[in-house]
Amino acid sequence: MVLDRVKTGIRGFDELVAGGFPQGSTVLLSGGAGTGKTIFGLSYLYAGAKYYNEPGLYITLEGNLKNIVWNMETFRWDIKPLQDAGLLKIYKMNLHTSENVEKQIEEELTVIAGFVKQMGCKRLVVDSTTALGVWISEQGKIRNMLFTFTDGLKDLGCTTMMIAETKGGKTDYSAFGVEEFVADGVVVLYFTPPNRSIFVRKMRGTNHNKAVHPFSITEEGIEVKPRDEIMWEAMK
Ligand SMILES: Nc1ncnc2c1ncn2[C@@H]1O[C@H](COP(=O)(O)OP(=O)(O)OP(=O)(O)O)[C@@H](O)[C@H]1O
Ligand SMILES: [Mg+2]
Repeated sequence: MVLDRVKTGIRGFDELVAGGFPQGSTVLLSGGAGTGKTIFGLSYLYAGAKYYNEPGLYITLEGNLKNIVWNMETFRWDIKPLQDAGLLKIYKMNLHTSENVEKQIEEELTVIAGFVKQMGCKRLVVDSTTALGVWISEQGKIRNMLFTFTDGLKDLGCTTMMIAETKGGKTDYSAFGVEEFVADGVVVLYFTPPNRSIFVRKMRGTNHNKAVHPFSITEEGIEVKPRDEIMWEAMK
């Protein structure tokens, strides 16, 4: 069986994963503060909307939408026509208090499912799963909630990028230590000043590149250098 691929459209990246993410997979995008996670996620949706006519939904848990708007404005991206054409949407998830978070998440999943259906969404980005956990104090409950949430998203048939904040260590893949097992794929971003780099830790059902590659953030978004490598030993 040949897997259908979803081309991220991020320059230099797709060849690291044999042409793109396996269609329908859930890919964890991990990294420390300021490693480029949000920009990577936005680039994935922007390219999908602009070049592949695939509608995408950006689900944020950030307190305000400023960071996202700043991020969009800093690039040479024409977002407005894509939003107007129903190819791109930003949705801020509403979680109120720490009371009955499970029920709220269930309700939010219903809202998200509604958008997915209405827009014919093919791509989802959740920024971030780490922020979801903030509302729950018990470790066991966090795991349960993450499984439920991921399963719920998986049923929607989109190819999903889940963003996880880490402390930035070389082998840190998530905040709760479970996200990387739930996900079908793990892509890690590093910032070892002044260099940024990217590494595909796993991708179920497909071969993928095993090296660490430099990338840069330019006015066009993310650009990976698939032919240049960074030695694992040289990284902190
Ligand atoms: N136009 C630009 N050109 C070059 N670099 C930029 C540009 N805009 C932002 N950056 C870099 O990208 C970084 C932020 O990237 P991003 O917000 O995607 O990181 P993040 O991993 O999501 O961070 P956080 O942990 O705060 O969520 C900035 O700190 C800056 O170094
Ligand atoms: Mg971010």
